[in-house]
Amino acid sequence: MRPTTKELLKKLEEKYAAIDQDLDTHLEGLLYSEPITYWDYIKTDALLSLQIQRTELPDEMIFIMYHQVNELLFKMILWEIEQIANCEEITASLFTEKLMRVSRYFDMLTSSFTIMREGMDREQYLKFRMTLTPASGFQSAQYRLIEFASTDLINLIDARFRDTIDRDTPFEHAFNHLYWQAAGKDYSTGKKSYLLSSFEERYKQEFIDFTEKYNTTNLFAKFKLLPKEVKEDPKLKKAMRHYDYTVNITWVMAHYNAAKYYISGNNPDKELEATGGSDWVKYMHPKYQRRIFFPELWSEEELKNWGTDL
Ligand code: HEM
Repeated sequence: MRPTTKELLKKLEEKYAAIDQDLDTHLEGLLYSEPITYWDYIKTDALLSLQIQRTELPDEMIFIMYHQVNELLFKMILWEIEQIANCEEITASLFTEKLMRVSRYFDMLTSSFTIMREGMDREQYLKFRMTLTPASGFQSAQYRLIEFASTDLINLIDARFRDTIDRDTPFEHAFNHLYWQAAGKDYSTGKKSYLLSSFEERYKQEFIDFTEKYNTTNLFAKFKLLPKEVKEDPKLKKAMRHYDYTVNITWVMAHYNAAKYYISGNNPDKELEATGGSDWVKYMHPKYQRRIFFPELWSEEELKNWGTDL
């Protein structure tokens, strides 16, 4: 039942008294304040003023907006994961519920690539992408935050160097062996591409602070802390596996196929060069990256065949 006006006034009085405020002044202020509108609340004007092209090619606008939509959804994903991280006594149902929300966002991003695959004119893309050099979606910081918030750092280390790293390894060393370093680093000389070094210059400290927070509260760490019977909950296990597969196989392949289509027009003989200058064809495929958030939830056979049948 809705509270009466009298009850509401009493509650308001208590609320404002608690912060040494006079209720009457606030009530009088209501007489003069403007009613809220949709556009003020959603900040529509500000939001719609953020799409600035670098060329006159109309489909560049699609490219910008598509990435912005992705960034907004990444923010929603991080928001949900943070709630799991902050929850001290999480139940199987809440964990599952939040995880499925996150998965649905990622499913949406994955299926959006089927729209985007032919969502822009390829000829235009090949022109405007040159003006974006050397930037790349590789430099999406939120994408990296989602990875850090999803699993223990060790599972994001390049598979070739995993044996040399454990929980006591200095962060700097671990960071330099994250799987995505392979996109911009020459391991024989240690030299990093501009794509990678500029990204690190801008975000490295943020990443360090973030990984500290998520060291013990990332999704996998939280899952492992659950009581045995909760961890065995079939719905939760299924949700965990679904999330892992969606982010690390389905999304990656959908993105890879879109990239391949735009850059080479699916012509296998064509040189596939990326704006960020990475050896991306090799590095982006799940069978090379072997990025698996929750390895203990997959069988040996499944791990062995990760991404190999795609
Ligand atoms: C039609 C749209 C897209 C095309 C054609 C495309 C193309 C590419 C290409 C060619 C690369 C290779 C890296 C490089 O440039 O050196 C790449 C990398 C990357 N892109 Fe995209 N991309 C698209 C959309 C997106 C979106 C929406 C995101 C979301 C932020 C994204 C995130 C990434 C990431 C994270 C990488 C690094 C790969 C990895 O670490 O797995 N891309 N993309």
